[in-house]
Amino acid sequence: MKLNIAKAEQFLQAGAVAAYEPQVKAAMETLEKGTGAGNDFLGWLHLPSSITAEHLADLKATAQVLRENCEVVIVAGIGGSYLGARAVIEALSNTFEWLKEKKENPVIIYAGNNIGEDYLAELTEFLKDKKFGVINISKSGTTTETALAFRLLKKQCEDQRGKEMARKVIVAVTDAKKGAARVTADKEGYKSFIIPDNVGGRFSVLTPVGLLPIAVAGYDIEQLVQGARDMEAETAEGVPFMENPSAVYAAVRNLLYADGKKIEILVNYQPKLHYMMEWWKQLYGESEGKDGKGIFPASVDFSTDLHSMGQWIQEGERSIFETVISVEKANKTLTVPSDEENLDGLNFLAGKRVDEVNKMAELGTQLAHVDGGVPNLRITVPQLDEYNIGQLIYFFEKACGISGYLLGVNPFNQPGVEAYKKNMFALLGKPGYEEETKAIQAKL
Ligand code: PA5
Repeated sequence: MKLNIAKAEQFLQAGAVAAYEPQVKAAMETLEKGTGAGNDFLGWLHLPSSITAEHLADLKATAQVLRENCEVVIVAGIGGSYLGARAVIEALSNTFEWLKEKKENPVIIYAGNNIGEDYLAELTEFLKDKKFGVINISKSGTTTETALAFRLLKKQCEDQRGKEMARKVIVAVTDAKKGAARVTADKEGYKSFIIPDNVGGRFSVLTPVGLLPIAVAGYDIEQLVQGARDMEAETAEGVPFMENPSAVYAAVRNLLYADGKKIEILVNYQPKLHYMMEWWKQLYGESEGKDGKGIFPASVDFSTDLHSMGQWIQEGERSIFETVISVEKANKTLTVPSDEENLDGLNFLAGKRVDEVNKMAELGTQLAHVDGGVPNLRITVPQLDEYNIGQLIYFFEKACGISGYLLGVNPFNQPGVEAYKKNMFALLGKPGYEEETKAIQAKL
């Protein structure tokens, strides 16, 4: 993985990035020494290098039980208990695998990340004749969206497959002691994995939260962790500032923000990376959007969105910058055929790889957007595989910690997420929320 900041740096004062080194070093020291706000949530920082072979073997063995006994596995979770697994699985999956008659891997479906009645009704209907299992993921063990979906899925699984098989194909990933998910797992005798206390949801993809579903989907979690481990070394404290991609990324985005660039758009040119963008938005949005501050993290899938959001990016308010994830090499090969009649006028592309066309769209867009006043950072990933995705994950996590401290916020809490929950519980009459119910009724 490589970070190129040249097309962003040209929008800053000459030497601004290098001159920012002391602040970045201080932020990194705060992170490494654990002296900053939220320091009880730094379990992710040296997680890759501390994951043991035994832990990975346990995850793989559990994944194998699900793979052998299920044609469909439902991953129930929301936010940090959902997006990381989906980001990795979708980045690595054959887009059409689930439509194939003969499948190599169980179909992975996500639930517990919304409260759409139609979605859940259609899901339960789809599962009626399926051998399915469930991974119930919730750190608190009490999140309404996930708990509601799990209540439905647990009952359906037991009714369809019997209590004994359900016990085999339902796995919990939750807190060691507290929460309803833990109580249920212990009472029912489900296999369970622990989410460490000191790892917050959005930093938890390299815990069983992400690793178990990724292993069930058939991907190599050892390589994923190895990629993250190598990036942990590449971004460690002793690495010179300009050679540390996380430090440089954190620096540039904060300098651009101070210069009025309030929105960062993460860009991909591979539809498989769509959920990587969703994961990144949560990571940065929840970590930095507080105390009236923070870059607004947005994302686009190019070239698709060049035909929709492209206009705004080219000519709208100049309050944006882009960070492009560029995948160097496509995993498959497809060449544009020549056509004798050339009715579509595309013979100028004949013989070229589709990826070459994509790369020229990417280069052309970068030139146009930079000309249009949009600073561009570029992250180059050699190819989409477990190792490189692992690198990308840790790169963004480390940069997020540094960036949050540079901004002067606690990057590891999310107090703002509670506001809607309190109102929803009061409106639904949850016991213990009587005072809030009265206060809300007065407002309605
Ligand atoms: O990052 C976070 O802390 C949140 O997005 C949580 O992961 C999300 O709210 C789900 O919480 P839980 O895992 O407790 O169900």
